Order: sequence, then structure tokens, then C-alpha cells
Amino acid sequence: MEAPLVIRCRKDGPLVVEQPVTIVDHEGRVLDVPGDKPLVALCRCGHSRKKPFCDGTHRVVGFRSEPADCAPPTSADP
Ligand code: FES
Repeated sequence: MEAPLVIRCRKDGPLVVEQPVTIVDHEGRVLDVPGDKPLVALCRCGHSRKKPFCDGTHRVVGFRSEPADCAPPTSADP
């Protein structure tokens, strides 16, 4: 049995996923994920110029995460 995929929420930063991972866009195209790194950082601040990947802009814009950002969804969430 494979280990479940782990996505880590970095404080004031991206979501980090261990490689290997396949990322597919909304039209089903597989995105080119740099395979030379053990981790892939995905933007959650909304300001990256390389979405869905983090480009470090979260530091420039002063993104602050809150513990609730990584809380499980509730029935009130869309
Ligand atoms: S989280 Fe890093 S640029 Fe958005």
C-alpha cells in the first residue's frame, strides 16, 4: 500500500508537495514540474507569476497565513 500524498502548509508561504507528483491544469494538460527537486511549492497567496507554482512573491506581498487556512472544510464552505 502506497503512503498517502503529503501536502505541507508552510507558515506564511506555499503548499509544499513531495515529488514525484503530476499536476494537471483545468484542460487536462500535464504541467511541466521541475523534476530535479525533491519538493514542489504551490502558490497559495495568489500573487505568483508562475501559478500554480510559488515564485517567492508571497514574501514581497507580505502574505500571512492563518492556522484556519489549513483547517478541514466545514459544511459552511463552498
Ligand atoms: S505562495 Fe509563494 S508566491 Fe504565492
